[in-house]
Amino acid sequence: MTQLAADINEAAAAIREKWNGTPRVGLILGTGLGGLAEQIQQDAVIHYSEIPHFPESTVESHAGQLICGSLSGVPIVAMEGRFHFYEGYTMQQVTFPVRVMKALGIEILIVTNAAGGMNPEFQLADLMIIDDHINLMGDNPLIGENDESLGPRFPDMSEPYTRKLSTLAHKTAGELGIAAHRGVFIAVTGPNLETRAEYSMLRTLGADVVGMSTVPEVIVANHAGLRVLGCSIVTDMCLPNELEPVDIAKILAVAATGGERLSRLIPAVVGKLSQGG
Ligand code: HPA
Repeated sequence: MTQLAADINEAAAAIREKWNGTPRVGLILGTGLGGLAEQIQQDAVIHYSEIPHFPESTVESHAGQLICGSLSGVPIVAMEGRFHFYEGYTMQQVTFPVRVMKALGIEILIVTNAAGGMNPEFQLADLMIIDDHINLMGDNPLIGENDESLGPRFPDMSEPYTRKLSTLAHKTAGELGIAAHRGVFIAVTGPNLETRAEYSMLRTLGADVVGMSTVPEVIVANHAGLRVLGCSIVTDMCLPNELEPVDIAKILAVAATGGERLSRLIPAVVGKLSQGG
């Protein structure tokens, strides 16, 4: 067994000691999604520091705990707080929790994030269901020895976000009266925001929104054979000719508004999964 597989098993075993459920869905909560965590019927809340081999969260706006329970009747594990590459973690550390959630039994990973909007049709606090992504982080969590028991050496990425799930989420948003776009997410390392020239370039590359997370986790989820749903909240508009200095407090406020919408959408989507959706 590889060291990675041994570490995953140890982490999963520590979680199982505190919660004996089998989750169907794993949820990574990005900025602004505290409200969604509250909607989970919580059986156990495990701080990351209690899970062997889990890195500890450093960003203030992220809580750093694993919530085990159910959402809309579906057994779930939710990460309240994620690990970012810009915090100095390796790609393997950033994605370790996805491996652990897979070991616990999840079949579907739902990832959320705050992102900068580059599509001029988008507005602040809009949601965008992620249809595809571009990895511009200059690194990859799968570099290094491949453990065939975890996934293939050369994983396919022709449908990194499960089309059926994106369509279900988009349709559900419509039913709830929540405006949701569909589009391409591009990942950069951060932590600085982009220059006008960079936003211009990222848009030219084919992206609708830009963010500093998600892509590593989604690569590993695909490697692990999980189905994936991704959703971004547009927290700031990044139109090169109208760019304003970044105000992190404002981004967090907008994230909260978008988060409220996502907190209605995700439970509805998860509820439909239990009906075979
Ligand atoms: N760029 C990168 N990441 C982000 C942005 C942005 O403009 N907004 C929120 N996350």
